Amino acid sequence: MQEQNQKRGRFIVFEGIDGAGKTTQIELLTRRLAEEGRRVHHTAEPTESVSGGLLRDALSGVSKRTPCEMAALFVLDRIFHNTNPVNGIEKMLADGVDVICDRYYYSSLAYQGSETDAKWVQDMNLSCPEIRRPDLCIFLDLTPEQSMERIGRGRVTVEIYENVDRLTRVRDRFYSVFEALAPTDRIRVVNAARSVEEIHNEIMTLVSDLL
Ligand code: TYD
Repeated sequence: MQEQNQKRGRFIVFEGIDGAGKTTQIELLTRRLAEEGRRVHHTAEPTESVSGGLLRDALSGVSKRTPCEMAALFVLDRIFHNTNPVNGIEKMLADGVDVICDRYYYSSLAYQGSETDAKWVQDMNLSCPEIRRPDLCIFLDLTPEQSMERIGRGRVTVEIYENVDRLTRVRDRFYSVFEALAPTDRIRVVNAARSVEEIHNEIMTLVSDLL
């Protein structure tokens, strides 16, 4: 049993309001773990599946969806993400591969939870037997103003979830989600308004505790 547990990969999720630098930090962590001889699978939600495509169309405004449709589509996409037999999260972890995921159910609880019945969104995600709890969630934290500034600098299109009022609501919601999940989930908030290297070093300390 002990040996089986040691062989399983670790499941690490990154969350953050938009522009917090998740992509950069995930790449650095992935590279670092690989250098240490671990096998690492980098993945993201929405996924590249059919449900992920429906979500991206709605997020960019190409198609219109109600908040409940969005919440349900994210759950569908997350179930597929966990269970698909080729490179799903469960398969990877069982094969001893670490999974690093860009966004997960914390985003649903924060974004969809602020738009429709929060308890329903939470129940769908946390009570679903096919949605696994991560070993660690790292929240890259920025103020909404810092976030908008970074988004403005780096991108041409701005998605429907990106404006200061909305980001403020979502960040507050992330904080309440983390408070509610503190007894069951290992969640760490990292100040993302620092240099790339400082943030990476803090992330490495958090991840090392887990390996
Ligand atoms: P995307 O541009 O793919 O990634 P990111 O902003 O993380 O770089 O956008 C994903 C968007 O999807 C983001 O605005 C948050 C939103 N989202 C939800 O609303 N609920 C969810 O459950 C997830 C996973 C994402």
